[in-house]
Amino acid sequence: MAKEKGIHGVEDLPGIGPATADKLKEKGYDDIEKIAAASPYEIAELTGMSSEAAKKAVEAARQATTVDFTTGYDAYEKRKALGKINTGSEALDELLGGGVETSAITEAYGKFASGKTQLGFQLCVNVQLPVGKGGLDGSILFLDTEGTFRPERIESIAKAAGMDPKDALSRIYFVRALTTSQQILTIERADKLIRENNIKLIVVDSMMALFRSEFMGRGALGERQQKLNSHIHKLQMLADTYGLAVYITNQVMDNPAILFGDPTTPVGGNVIAHAATTRLYMRKSKEEKRIVRLVDSPNMPEGEAVIKITANGIKD
Ligand code: GTP
Ligand code: MG
Repeated sequence: MAKEKGIHGVEDLPGIGPATADKLKEKGYDDIEKIAAASPYEIAELTGMSSEAAKKAVEAARQATTVDFTTGYDAYEKRKALGKINTGSEALDELLGGGVETSAITEAYGKFASGKTQLGFQLCVNVQLPVGKGGLDGSILFLDTEGTFRPERIESIAKAAGMDPKDALSRIYFVRALTTSQQILTIERADKLIRENNIKLIVVDSMMALFRSEFMGRGALGERQQKLNSHIHKLQMLADTYGLAVYITNQVMDNPAILFGDPTTPVGGNVIAHAATTRLYMRKSKEEKRIVRLVDSPNMPEGEAVIKITANGIKD
């Protein structure tokens, strides 16, 4: 999108002074494109502006942004150029069409000890590798909601990849969230960190744990799904805006409606199911082996890969 008419920033919009602009930026509305995409009611509610004034500001933002159309061929070329992060296992990379995709959300779900967190750690190391060597020369935002981040484990995986473990750990920006509000705010306010530190991977481990414990019972489900929807939407926006990869882990439950076959189902309902571009179902096999099933992908066939969780990280 392009900007016109001398309107370059949020504060150039009619009726928006410096204080209001700050308020909006704090809530993640830090450029006119985001305002253009917002509803005037949202803006009025956030800023305390009258709904008339908010309508004018949003209208001005819409007029100042133009949509640039591209052809299908341009989109094809762009997709080919999208970065991928190697997983450490060639079989899994192949299953994924080259690795974990940028500008997309990849979800790994499965029972405890199935390897979801370990794969996240491996991606934290691999994304730091040079472009063309399996990485994106990028940094990481790691959002831990379960208290299972292990720097010592990252140290071993980084060493095995030939990196200085101290350098590798220094490129991981780590947040431990204890509430859904902290989880949501970390992502709402991530723009600056991402821009300034070349973040190419966001890990949310796990996506649902806090939402499940805070919103219990049927009565709270509607509110939970609404919050979750806006949270994952923001993650999607960051993935698109900055061309980064989002990797989320998810818990499972047994779906009583599935009478035959494996009843294991990821939690989070349609909100997560629709937002995740690629879904991986991980399960334990013998000893260090794990089976990863590609359940949902926009352009790769379903299939399975066997990986190993070794002392040096994820391998074939
Ligand atoms: P939950 O978070 O409990 O749902 O599980 P998860 O799917 O995140 O499991 P995680 O990725 O933590 O996998 C745990 C498993 O990884 C352990 O049971 C071990 O088999 C393996 N593992 C973890 N650390 C090491 C290690 O240092 N060396 C080796 N060889 N295996 C490890
Ligand atoms: Mg875990």
